[in-house]
Amino acid sequence: MAYETIILKRTGAVAIIRINRPDKLNAMNAKVKEEITHALGDLESDGDVRVAIITGVGDKAFVAGADIAEFAGKTPVDQWQAYGHTSLYNVVERFPKPILAMINGYCLGGGCELAMACDIRIASDRAQLGQPEINIGIIPGGGGSQRLPRLVGLGKALQLILTGDRIDARTAKEIGLVDEVVPHEALEAKTLELANKIAEKSPVAVRLAKAAVKASTNLPLDQGLRYEQSLFSIAFSTEDKEEGVRAFLEKRKPAFKGR
Ligand code: COA
Repeated sequence: MAYETIILKRTGAVAIIRINRPDKLNAMNAKVKEEITHALGDLESDGDVRVAIITGVGDKAFVAGADIAEFAGKTPVDQWQAYGHTSLYNVVERFPKPILAMINGYCLGGGCELAMACDIRIASDRAQLGQPEINIGIIPGGGGSQRLPRLVGLGKALQLILTGDRIDARTAKEIGLVDEVVPHEALEAKTLELANKIAEKSPVAVRLAKAAVKASTNLPLDQGLRYEQSLFSIAFSTEDKEEGVRAFLEKRKPAFKGR
């Protein structure tokens, strides 16, 4: 499919989705959301793709939020219908392969919510993050009120959401909103390095590990531990487990096949 608002590029086992509206600081309109959803569907079924990265085109912005122009005159029913049966943020959250947010600049509102739905957030030292919806008389609507406190705690989440203040990448790392901060010029190389490292592992084990860890945010501890045991047991059904164990014992590098 030819995309209008994103650029999708595969490099080996890693696919990069770049949101491509730099003149609007990559603000996400309905088309952007539709195209990312479509691209993720393709990447999910493409067996050669093991890790996905989401980023923004240009030097200034990852995503400066939902497209505010679309809010003018919008009714509650319009908004409810726009959510549909699921939202982009949930599609990203449920994507079964690892998905990294490469935060190259402003990461605000829906942009911060998009990054939070990803698995790991790597930020440029120039990035600025925040949930500024309060400044235009609304609240986060892409999961910000739920995912932000889970990452940074209630107090910090409320501080960000109630003030609408932006924080720099280092502060975001200190409070747990991003996982790595790297020099702006090294952002892509460092993110690809991490993506490729994950892509070399057994893809089945990676999926199982992701599913187990993600479940920890939704399940009580006893159920989460049981779920982990189920997935751990499933890992014993794969050829990759036999290969990994044999390679260790034979003191060589494993050649994982994804089976
Ligand atoms: N929705 C729609 N358009 C947006 C946008 C958004 N969320 N964020 C930026 N833009 C547009 C601006 O309207 C401007 O378009 P124009 O050139 O046609 O006027 C263009 O992107 C550049 O933005 P500008 O504001 O001129 O850049 P800046 O460097 O002065 O300021 C920001 C950068 C990020 C501080 C500022 O753009 C901003 O506050 N954006 C809104 C952030 C926000 O509230 N997001 C949550 C939305 S719910």
